[in-house]
Amino acid sequence: MSDIKHLQHEIGRRRTFAIISHPDAGKTTLTEKLLLFGGVIQLAGAVKAKRGRANAVSDWMEMERERGISITTSVMQFPYEGLEMNLLDTPGHADFSEDTYRTLHAVDGAVMLLDCAKGVESQTSKLFRVCKHRSIPIFTFVNKMDRPGRDPFDLVGEVESVLGIGVFPITWPIFRSGTFRGVYHRLDKRVYLFDQELAKSSAKSGAEIAPFKISGVDDPMLRTELGEEGYAQLQEDVELLEVAGDEFDRERFLAGEVSPMFFGSAINNFGLKAFLNTFCELMPSPGPHEANTGTIAADKDEFSGFIFKIQANMNRAHRDRLAFVRICSGRFRRGIKVHHVRTGRDIRLANPTLFLAKERSLVDEAYAGDVIGVFDTGIFEIGDTLTEGSKFEFARIPNFAPEYFSRLVSLDPLRRKQLTRGIEQLAQEGTVQLYRPLRGLAGEMILGAVGELQMEVTKYRLQDEYGVKVRLDRLKYQVARWVRPKEDKTLDVEALHRECPGLVVLDVKERPVVLFEREWAVGFSEERLPDVIFDETAQGVVVRDGQS
Ligand code: G4P
Repeated sequence: MSDIKHLQHEIGRRRTFAIISHPDAGKTTLTEKLLLFGGVIQLAGAVKAKRGRANAVSDWMEMERERGISITTSVMQFPYEGLEMNLLDTPGHADFSEDTYRTLHAVDGAVMLLDCAKGVESQTSKLFRVCKHRSIPIFTFVNKMDRPGRDPFDLVGEVESVLGIGVFPITWPIFRSGTFRGVYHRLDKRVYLFDQELAKSSAKSGAEIAPFKISGVDDPMLRTELGEEGYAQLQEDVELLEVAGDEFDRERFLAGEVSPMFFGSAINNFGLKAFLNTFCELMPSPGPHEANTGTIAADKDEFSGFIFKIQANMNRAHRDRLAFVRICSGRFRRGIKVHHVRTGRDIRLANPTLFLAKERSLVDEAYAGDVIGVFDTGIFEIGDTLTEGSKFEFARIPNFAPEYFSRLVSLDPLRRKQLTRGIEQLAQEGTVQLYRPLRGLAGEMILGAVGELQMEVTKYRLQDEYGVKVRLDRLKYQVARWVRPKEDKTLDVEALHRECPGLVVLDVKERPVVLFEREWAVGFSEERLPDVIFDETAQGVVVRDGQS
């Protein structure tokens, strides 16, 4: 095979994605099943249990202690039916942080996992918005169908109205006397029946009776399986779906406008095969990425990638950090020299690591779509581009609106310089967001974070690495919006102070941000200032102190 053919073949086998969900929807269970089907693990229960964590601090320390494990599970590469899956973890619970959002900038698609009794929950919406913003394809899997849940049409309606995306159910649940009986695959016209007893006796093959093909929803076989009532309901449901929906539109799916929906039960291995087969068929392999010089094709004959996550080592003896690189084009080989575009330096990456689900192993080769971990001695920042020599840069990963805010109070007034240096460095690195009130006491610092854990990490690292003790006083703000003027207008900072029921601050790049206590205040401000755009991510203009 020629080099380019080989490259294209390898990239074509990659599927790089994340599972987005609210805690408890079944993400760990689904991940485990993927590994089980991929032959990586033999028994359910092998994925590290993540429950029983008391609070953010101990949680993080625990994560540190079990470092090897937590890092390998943050990216998992595993084979599945001839494909190479790269599953990137989006930590929830106490680990929820800006990293969770940034990870979604490194994937080509997502699986949105819903609990059939709960529908769209808050964390799912937040993660979904990032995916929607990137216009990446999103699959929906409605889990826990073995338990009583909400009406499936209700769930479809909720996803459409709350998340603003079209839904195309590919499988549809069928019931007998109100009890879940299985799913009907609308494209294949196959019925998959659920067997609770089988689920109990076979952990590996699960609760699925071999699917059978039917001639259509009026097949008499279904009448026997579902009883009169269940049969009539399926007829009615499918008719409604046919009336409501067009054909499955692949283009709209790829653009993130319509989500194929599946129903099943992860713990019982039910409905997963139907889902996974369609997932493998529809989920695209790595495509092009936008850079400041134009579009970079995945099969470009030059390695390139960007850093989407930096994990600091908490062990004082090991000051190094691990940077996660999403490869966007070409092939990475161990020992190659890479160009760090922001600093213009050529570097050799130390110990590049691949995160195979079974183990961490040194990279010999990795391709577009893969994620490698490299040791960072302090030169990398989130969003940095690495190439084999070219000078282009990929679009930066934005800052995301924090929801936790604290005033930073130094407990070591004599170590002011160290504090300023430390906090600025941590903010540059993306550990926490730093703001300075536009009108306030000189030197006043406000920290913003997407998750509470980020605050704990910041406090710990300031003391551990910079020798500064601080106190973080929680502020009542919960919403941040970067502000910029509408086209042809200039930003009237005075008006921001006057009209917004919130605090006007500048971020580290001197972009203006307004912090609000409640969501309604954003709408209120938008009405009062029609010439101003309030963004959930940072992309705004720069304002210097005193400008108005
Ligand atoms: P998460 O990572 O999204 O937080 O969810 P996780 O997989 O840990 O699942 C949360 C709970 O839901 C677990 O129960 C898990 O067993 C259960 N679960 C997952 N999939 C299904 C399903 O299809 N049907 C039903 N009925 N339950 C499901 P738990 O009691 O919290 O923990 P465990 O003791 O079972 O491990």
